[in-house]
Amino acid sequence: MPRKPLIAGNWKMNVNHIESVGLVQKLAWALTDLKFDPKKAECLVIPPFTDLRTVQIVIEGDRLPISWGAQDVSEHQNGAYTGDVSADMLVKLGCTYVVIGHSERRQYHNESDRTVNEKSRLALDKALTPIICVGEGLGVRRAGEHVEFTLDQVRGALEDIAADAAAKIVIAYEPVWAIGTGEVATPDDAQEVCGAIREELRTRYGDDVADAVRILYGGSVKASGIVALMVKDDVDGVLVGGASLDPQEFALITRFYESPNS
Ligand code: 13P
Repeated sequence: MPRKPLIAGNWKMNVNHIESVGLVQKLAWALTDLKFDPKKAECLVIPPFTDLRTVQIVIEGDRLPISWGAQDVSEHQNGAYTGDVSADMLVKLGCTYVVIGHSERRQYHNESDRTVNEKSRLALDKALTPIICVGEGLGVRRAGEHVEFTLDQVRGALEDIAADAAAKIVIAYEPVWAIGTGEVATPDDAQEVCGAIREELRTRYGDDVADAVRILYGGSVKASGIVALMVKDDVDGVLVGGASLDPQEFALITRFYESPNS
């Protein structure tokens, strides 16, 4: 089965729940204007926790062709973990995806590969699709060790995850030096690492899993560069930060398959 492209917008800590209504509605209008076909790509928004109920109501109420997910999840089922949000809570809010191990969580909250693995296993148990983020910083890239570094993160994230569960995972390659900097990795840079991730999956789990898992690129993605990225064999979508806050721009990215040079 061909992999359906996934275009995901990570709003990060932007947009309050009142503003989220307008952003989702404007995105839906822009998608309609562009004749977006949900059979050709999946459009996903990833708002802050506090917006999720509102986003759910708007999307479900208007039957919009948009999925929604969360930016993080606790590695614990429930209990005395002040400030954490459980997988069960996200499922109740209709979330189908959750971002795990974003570089900003790794950097500012010291999340390790082990935490990423625990969160991913719990998400999979609850039928939430983890979007596992991996990617190297500038020093590692300059040392030419970006592929091995990133594959190590992938291996850590996948520990004790069986093939049938692994097939459902999404992996996002987000080189840290390209996040929010305007510095986009070239399509060849993205392909090099995304291809290596797929080969790692092939070695570990075999062809069926390797061919099923969607691998995204993230880091300063804009509509102007989307086609060149999406034509790469192992890039199955994008995880968009800043540009996902602009509904017109994000809609253009989502409808990449009909861009003039696609
Ligand atoms: P930018 O698109 O703003 O670089 O952010 C990328 C990102 O971190 C998405 O998760």
